[in-house]
Amino acid sequence: MDCYALIGHPVEHSKSPFIHAAFARQTRQELSYRALIAPLDGFSDTVRMFRAEGGRGANVTVPFKIEACSLATRLTERARLAGAVNTLTFENDAILGDNTDGIGLVRDLITNLACPLAGRHVLLLGAGGAARGVLFPLFQTKPSSLTIVNRTVKRAQELRAAFAPYAGQTAFTAGGYEDIGGWEFDVVINATSASLENKTLPLSGNIFAPDAFAYDMMYSENGTPFLTWARTAGASRLSDGLGMLVEQAAESFALWRGVRPSSTSVLSELRRKLASHS
Ligand code: ATR
Repeated sequence: MDCYALIGHPVEHSKSPFIHAAFARQTRQELSYRALIAPLDGFSDTVRMFRAEGGRGANVTVPFKIEACSLATRLTERARLAGAVNTLTFENDAILGDNTDGIGLVRDLITNLACPLAGRHVLLLGAGGAARGVLFPLFQTKPSSLTIVNRTVKRAQELRAAFAPYAGQTAFTAGGYEDIGGWEFDVVINATSASLENKTLPLSGNIFAPDAFAYDMMYSENGTPFLTWARTAGASRLSDGLGMLVEQAAESFALWRGVRPSSTSVLSELRRKLASHS
């Protein structure tokens, strides 16, 4: 049987084994997928051991996505631009590194949530690894404008400089939270880790255009501080990032197996499972 794994630290609460097992059942693929914890200083050794045992591919999560990028012998363009890898495919002596996070976000918004991005004003909050990972796929959807704001303004400006060549017709700006007073956005995406620390962001209450969508790349059974704030600040529609998690997994699965699973039923199954445990 072909073996796959999620490699990270920690991994015990990961939903990925559930998601990939559901995809495998649905597409009648014979495979196993497990969560594999790597010591903080032992990512490449863990990958080596997993390959030696016959591993065919792996997803990579915190804190190893950047290390996985250096370990790969070949990178897709989206992984190279993200500077991070969440999907490894082992091919004889080569290791292909890909990043499916951004396409996962875009598919969740456009397909699952019926939130188009083309021609819309998009605000991306944060300028860390999570923001970097989704920028290129976001530009490919051709928004009318894309604005990045970050607590540390310099990091937002650095991202702008790095991604300006890929913005196409999209008006691309970067700055601090105080720079967007009076601006309205159709889609606001939280790519900061503030929700993880249970912190709210220094956003003014009038950034949402009519019918605006607020999306948190984090997910939590109990909602997130960003989504709680967005509801009171007037966002018409809200979503956490559970669909992004399922969609990035579907993209990895398709890359490994050559068949694209349908994510809708797996996402609802996962929501039901999480709700019954909360
Ligand atoms: P990740 O890989 O999850 O993106 P990261 O690279 O450490 O992690 O980036 C975390 C992001 O969340 C950054 O944009 C960070 O802002 P700074 O660059 O100013 O540090 C942002 N962030 C984290 N906590 C925050 C908070 N309490 N308020 C505002 N931004 C926060």
